[in-house]
Amino acid sequence: MSEQVRQTTPFVDSGPDLAAIRARAEELVRQMTPAEKAGQLTQYFYFRLPPSAETEPALGMDLDAQPREVEAALRRGAVGSLLFVTDPAEINRLQRLAIDGNRLDIPVLFGFDVIHGLRTIFPVPIAMAASWDVETIEHAQSVAAREARAVGIHWAFAPMVDVARDPRWGRIVEGAGEDPFLGAVVAAAQVRGFQGNDYGRPDRIVAGPKHFAGYGAALGGRDYDEVNLSDHELWNTIFPPFSAAVAAGAENVMSAYMDLNGVPASASRWLFTEVLRQTWGFGGFVVSDANAVRNLVTHGLAADLTDAAARAVTAGVDMEMAITDPAYAHLPAAVQSGAVDETVLDARVRRVLEVKLRLGLFDQPYVDEEAARSVLADPDHREAARVAAERSAVLLRNEVGLLPLDAGTLGSIAVLGPLADSRRDTLGPWVFDVDLDETVTVLDGIRRKVGDRVRVDFAPGIPVVQRVFPSMFDMFGGNRPEDPAGFDEDAELRRAVDLAAGADVAVVVAGEWQNMIGEAASRSSLELPGRQLELLQAVVATGTPTALLVMNGRPLDLRWAADNVPAILDIWYPGTQGGAAVANLLFGDLSPAGKLPFSWPRTVGQIPMIYSHTRSHEPENQGRRYWDEASTPLFPFGHGLTYGGFTYSELAVDQASIPPDGTVTVSVLVTNTGDRQASDVAQLYLHQRSGSASRPVRELKGFQRISLAAGVSRQVQFPLRPEHRRYWSATARDWVLDDSVFDVWVGGSSAAELTTTFAQHRPSG
Ligand code: NOJ
Repeated sequence: MSEQVRQTTPFVDSGPDLAAIRARAEELVRQMTPAEKAGQLTQYFYFRLPPSAETEPALGMDLDAQPREVEAALRRGAVGSLLFVTDPAEINRLQRLAIDGNRLDIPVLFGFDVIHGLRTIFPVPIAMAASWDVETIEHAQSVAAREARAVGIHWAFAPMVDVARDPRWGRIVEGAGEDPFLGAVVAAAQVRGFQGNDYGRPDRIVAGPKHFAGYGAALGGRDYDEVNLSDHELWNTIFPPFSAAVAAGAENVMSAYMDLNGVPASASRWLFTEVLRQTWGFGGFVVSDANAVRNLVTHGLAADLTDAAARAVTAGVDMEMAITDPAYAHLPAAVQSGAVDETVLDARVRRVLEVKLRLGLFDQPYVDEEAARSVLADPDHREAARVAAERSAVLLRNEVGLLPLDAGTLGSIAVLGPLADSRRDTLGPWVFDVDLDETVTVLDGIRRKVGDRVRVDFAPGIPVVQRVFPSMFDMFGGNRPEDPAGFDEDAELRRAVDLAAGADVAVVVAGEWQNMIGEAASRSSLELPGRQLELLQAVVATGTPTALLVMNGRPLDLRWAADNVPAILDIWYPGTQGGAAVANLLFGDLSPAGKLPFSWPRTVGQIPMIYSHTRSHEPENQGRRYWDEASTPLFPFGHGLTYGGFTYSELAVDQASIPPDGTVTVSVLVTNTGDRQASDVAQLYLHQRSGSASRPVRELKGFQRISLAAGVSRQVQFPLRPEHRRYWSATARDWVLDDSVFDVWVGGSSAAELTTTFAQHRPSG
C-alpha cells in the first residue's frame, strides 16, 4: 500500500529551520520518562533468518526469538532505531508497530550497512578510493542514498574511514587504504554523496563515518584485537579522515569495538566528548558498534550492564546498537542510582529526535512501496556503477603491450578461474539485497563484448576454496561459495590448460572469494587461496599470452605473477556491472587510470609497509632492511599504468619562500604522449626537511585525475595551504608549522622523481 507523501518539517529558505526543530525536540524531551528516553537511545537489529546451529553461537543469540523480542520492545515504545531491514513493506509494518506503541508517536529511524550500494552495487570502497575520482565517489554514494531512502532506510553505517595499513585485516576492503590525505578526501566525498546539502530531502540519508577510532590498527591485523597507537599516529594518521567527514557535515559517527591504548574505544570520553565534540564541533549523534556497549563488560571494564550503559552514555555514545538485551535498557536504573544524571540522557535524546525531525520522519514516517520499485529499477544507477568500475581498475603491469586486446584480430579467448563467472563474488562483501541475475561477471562481460566474432571458452580449472573457519556472514544465503557437484580436480585443471593452449589469449581471474574479506575476515597470509597460482603457472607455461585479472580487496602475494605474467589488471570486486566495465577496459574502449590506495607488499612478512615512513637511521639501506627479501613494495602507493603515456615537466612554485600562514602554488605540465585519450592521476608529495619532529620521506598532499587527448598537455596547479604543511608534533604536543625547507614531487605515483623545493619561514623581527 502506498502512503501519501507529505512534507511538513519546518523549513526556512536556506534549508531546515533548525531553531524550530530544536524547540520541537525539546518539547518532546520534556514529556518523556527515563524509560522512554532509554528507548530512543536503543537501536536493535531486526533479523529474519532461519535458525542455524552454526551461526547462532557466533552471534550469541536465538535467531527465532530475536525478532519477537524486538517487536515486543516496539510495542512498548522502547526502540529508537532498527537496522537490517530493507524491504519497504516490512519497514512500513515495523514503523506502524513503533508509532502505535509509542505514547508520543515517535517514529523509528531505520539504519543499514549501505556500504557500496543497496540494490545497484558499486565497486567495493577500496576500489572506489583507487579511482582517485572525487566526483565518481560522491555520485556513487548519492545513488546508494537514493535507493536506500526509497525503500525507507534513513541512515548508512558508512563511510568506513579507518586508515588501514595492515592488509591482513579484512576490513581494509571497506576503507580508502593507507593514506590519511586520500582517506580524508574520499571520506568527505562520501559524506556529501549520502547527505547532499540536506539529508532531509527524499533522496538523501544520514552518513555515519566509522569506527571511531583506530580499528584498522588491530594487533597482527586480527579483527577486534586491541590497538595501541601513539598520539602522533592518532592525530596525523588516524583522525584526519574522521575530522574531514565531520567537517563535511556527517550527522552520525560510530564507535569502534576494540581497546584503544588500554581503554575500550566505546567508553572513551576523550574520543567522543573531547576530540569529536569539543575539538571538532561535531553536532550529530554517536552510535555504538553492534553490542559494543554490553561488551564493556566482556572487555573487563564495566562491572555489569548498568555500569556499561552508564560509562558509554557518559563518554558520549548517544545510541546503543544492540542485537539483543540492550545495556541501555538499564539507563533508568543508572539514573535512579545517581550513576547518570538525567540531563545527560536529555542531551543524548535531543540529538536523536532532532535527526528524526530533520529527516521529516514525524510527518512522513512511511515509505511509498510503489515508488521504491521504480527507483531501484533506474537504469542510470547501473550505468553509474559501470563507470565507477571502469574508473577504479588499476593496471599493475602491461609488458609488451598485451593490453588492450584487439577483438578484430583475435580468434579465441580462454577465460579461466572460478571467480571469472561468479556473480556473488563479482559483487564483493557487505551486500545483502542484491539481484544476482543482473550481475555481469567477467565471463559475461567478455562474451557480450565480442559477440560471435571471437570464440570464448570458460573453465574454472580449480575448485572453489573454503575458509578454514566459517564467516558469520555465511548465514546470509549465497555468501558461502558452493562447489559444483562432482568436480574432478585433475580433469578440470587439464581442461583449463588445454583451453589456454588452444586460445589466442588467456584471461585468468584470480583472487579471494568475497567471504574471505571484510569483517571477521583477517588472514595470516597473502597468498592466492587454493590452487590458483598453480592454475596461473600452468596457463602461462602453455606460451599463450596471458592477462591476470585480480579480484580482491587487499594486496595479495603476486611476486611470481609480477615476474612472469605480461599483464595484470586489478579489478577489485567491481560490482553489478563489473564484467561490462572490465570488458571495456580489456578491449580498449577506454584506458585504465586507477591508482593503488596502498603500498602493495611483496610478502606478508613485510607488513606493515607504508610509503610515508620516516627516514630514520641509514635511509640509504631502506630497501635492504631484510636479508632475505627486498624491503620495498612490489608496487608503490599511487601506482597504476594507463594505455596512454604521461610525462610531467615544468614543475614550479610561485614563491620560493612563504610565511607559515601563506599559500604556495605548485604547477606542473602534464602531457599525454600516447596515441589515445587517457587519464592519469597527478599526485603531489611533500617532505619537510627539518623541524620539531622527523617527518615522513613523502606525504601525499594533493591529487587531480585528469583526462587528456593524445598529444595534449595541460598545466595542473596544487595550492599548498597551511593545513597541508602543519602536523601534530610529539615534541610540542600540538599542531605546528615549523620553519623549514620542503621538497615537492609531482608525478603519476609515490615514486615520482620530478622535484623542486620551497621554504617556510617566520618573518624575522
Ligand atoms: C558491526 C560492524 O563493525 C559495523 O561496521 C556495522 O556497521 C555493524 N556491525 C552493523 O552491521
